[in-house]
Formats: sequence, C-alpha cells, structure tokens
Amino acid sequence: MSTTHPHNDGPPRTFPHGFLWGTATASYQIEGAVHSEGRGPSIWDTYSHAPGNVWNGDTGDIACDHFHRIDEDLDLMKKLGVGSYRFSVAWPRIQPDGKGPANQPGLDFYRRLVDGLRSRDIEPTLTLYHWDLPQALEDNGGWTVRETAERFAEYVDLVARALGNDVERWITLNEPWCSAWLGYGSGRHAPGVQDIGKAAAANHHLLLAHGMAVPILRSAIPDAKVGITLNLGVHRPGTDHVDDIAAAHRADGNLNRLFLDPVFHGSYPEDMLTHYEANLPGFSVIEEGDLEIISQPLDFLGVNYYFPDTIMDAKRAPEARVAGYGVPIGEQFPDLRVLSLETPGTDTTSMGWEVDASGLTELLVRIKGEYTDLPIYITENGAAFDDYVDPNGHVLDNDRISYLCEHVSAVHDAIDADVNVQGYFVWSLLDNFEWSFGYSRRFGIVWVDFPTGTRLPKASFNWYAKLVRMNAIEPVAT
Ligand code: FCB
Repeated sequence: MSTTHPHNDGPPRTFPHGFLWGTATASYQIEGAVHSEGRGPSIWDTYSHAPGNVWNGDTGDIACDHFHRIDEDLDLMKKLGVGSYRFSVAWPRIQPDGKGPANQPGLDFYRRLVDGLRSRDIEPTLTLYHWDLPQALEDNGGWTVRETAERFAEYVDLVARALGNDVERWITLNEPWCSAWLGYGSGRHAPGVQDIGKAAAANHHLLLAHGMAVPILRSAIPDAKVGITLNLGVHRPGTDHVDDIAAAHRADGNLNRLFLDPVFHGSYPEDMLTHYEANLPGFSVIEEGDLEIISQPLDFLGVNYYFPDTIMDAKRAPEARVAGYGVPIGEQFPDLRVLSLETPGTDTTSMGWEVDASGLTELLVRIKGEYTDLPIYITENGAAFDDYVDPNGHVLDNDRISYLCEHVSAVHDAIDADVNVQGYFVWSLLDNFEWSFGYSRRFGIVWVDFPTGTRLPKASFNWYAKLVRMNAIEPVAT
C-alpha cells in the first residue's frame, strides 16, 4: 500500500473559480435514533436485523447518533470549510408507513439541519432517496411495483414544500443500480430478494420515480436545481478476445447504459432489453409514455465513482490466469456471464476495490462524449482503509490522502479535457454503517468511536480542509 502521494509533484493544480467542494453522508448510515420522533421502519431496519445479512449482525439503530449530535457534526463541517453538504432524507421519518400526511417531527429534524447549514454558509445538497424505503411499501411489492413510484412522488412533494427554497440542489435518487440490482437481484442489500426479473422491474420503477419527481420539484420550487446520482464505472476487457470485449459491453450495459440511456436518450439499450426478456416481469412493466417521463431535462448529473473493473467472459475463467490476472473476484449475476478480475500489483482498499483514478477521467470524458454536457458533480468518491487511532491520538490515514489526491487530480484532468465538472463531494464525512459490511469498513475523514460516538478528525480531514481553502491540489513533498 502506498504511503506517499504519487500525484502532483509539479506546480499546484488550481480548480476553476467557484468549484464546489463538499462532503457526503446518508440517513441510515449515520442517523441512528430509528424509533425517535415517529420514524417508521425501513427495509434496512428489517434487513439488518435479520440474521446473516450484515457483518457481525450490525444495524443502523445507533450508527453515528447523528440525530442527536447534529450540531457537533455541523461544526465539523464548518471547520472543514466545505461549500456544500450532501445528505439524504429518510423517507420513513417523513411518512412512517410510506403514505399519507407528513410526520411533522421528521420534517423538523431536516429543517434544523438545513438551517444549521445555512447559518454556517454551507449549501445543502439533498438526496431524496438513499435506500431507506418504508417497510410498509416493501410489504406491498417495493420497487417491483409501479405504485411505489407514485408514492415516491407524493413523498417528494411533502419534502419539497417543507424545505423548498432553502435547498440548493435536489437529487432524486442515489445509485438506483444498487437499489435494483443489489436489493432485488443479488440480494446483498435490502430487501434481500434474489430475482433478476424483479431487479429489472425495480430498475424501471426507480427511474420512473425519478422522472415523476422532477416536475413536482420544479412546481414546488421554481428555481430548483434537480439531478440524479448514478454509480457509474468503466469496464475494461481483460484481453482483446472477442468474448471478453462482449462481456465488458454487457457489464457496461447493466451498470451504465441501463440508466444513462433512458435518462439522457429516452430509450433503454436494445441489447439489455433483449438480455432481460426471458426474466419476467423484467422490462415488460414499461408502459407507454414512461420513457418521456424518465428523460425530461435535468440541471446536473451526480456521479459516484470508486473503482474500475476488468472483465472477462465467465466461460473463459481458466484463461484469466494465463492472461496474468489473479483470482477472479466473482460473478455477481450469473445471467450476465461476466467475471470481474483482480489485477495483480494494483493497490486495493479494504473493500478490495482497486485504486485506479484514471477510470474516473475516462468515465467523465465518456459521459460528455456520449450523453450530456450538463454540469457534473462527483457526488461520492472516497475509500475505506484499516485506520486506527495511534498512541498519540492521531489517525494518520495516508492511504486515504493518497487516494483522494489521485482522484481529485483525475477530476482536474477531466476539466482540462473540457468536461463540465463543477463540484466534488468526499465520501464520507464520518465513519459510518457501511451497509452489509456494517461498521467493519471506515470511509470517513472523521474517525467515529462507535461505543461513545466521539468524533476525531483524521489526517485526511486536515488535508481536505487545505485543498478546499486553496481550491488547488498542492505539490506534495515525497
Ligand atoms: C456507495 C453508497 C454509499 C456508500 C459508498 C461506499 O455505493 O452510495 O452509501 O456506502 O458506496
């Protein structure tokens, strides 16, 4: 693992004036207080409480206790100096059973947060859905049924009317790929269903929910800036064998094109529609007019990027060794027949994700070339490492500094290539509940001692604060 900062031993790389530096979190991962102030259960409460789903049986019951430590966390952000904070609203705090009038104490919590940000000159960037679906809606079919998209539109209306003009940026959904394909396909996320046909149906209903939310936001808040956050990646064929190139294209279809094509081109990719035809209900749930709803104009695109993928056709697994790769990381969806490969000699994070910032530049250049010139915000980027508090009381997370430095540099490369990137949000402000990994993976630039809730800024916090202050990546002494 590298401990130096390989990028930028030249002059400082300055970002355009007004470039937005931020940090991000999500409700279920930090809030805790799952029974407070009328909050109803979400699919993540149910999933994390069922044995065997989450590492160590961890749950978000307490998490970072952000619900009770909101002022302390706001002060940390002020100290960090960021221009924006990206957070998500927990739907079950607003509608405990997913429908009906707003639960006022739930809205009051987010009002406090938004006012607290504003009084510290930090712009709120609000995500309406970061995976905590009210359990009552899942009991009715969740994202596999169209009605959930309609319920989402009603929820969005309640939040928009309550927080309206005090929020700068509105993100409809966070990473709908994860909600659909991990939630209903592999079952590695809540609600833990394993059914490819249901995952495809969820894919469509999530996009429909996004599309339905856009005009609601625009009518409640005339100058709202509205976007969607997608987790996108690059899929590099492991060899130039025709089957590996085709496999990489399938992986790209599932992760990238199934979302970018409908949102920006108003159509699903034909190869993917054909691929999922055999899995019902799949995309048979599409109704006339849906693609127009999904593809209406946005104000920005949010991109979450963590790592690139090297891909081979699953049936060529034995060739992977011959081609110089390590153990194939595995097949997430057997129907896709796609193997993710380990590239020996590449650094990895404690998630096992390969560190390769060039993928971020490649992705951004592609989005501009094939999809949109809209402003892009990197709404998440960051890394988990095996941090610890040393005897001096410091967390010297040089690996994270190195990762962030390389990726911020990759964003600068994209700007140099004329991509319209306008902001970058570090994932994450705090160590938190990392979904099925529980508390075993730390992504924060602030250490959280979970039994006590004590916060301790890591070395990366100070590094990032300086980057924000300078609006430039400084030369790093090696
Ligand atoms: C993303 C999620 C975010 C966090 C990071 C590590 O997929 O949006 O909540 O878990 O990964």
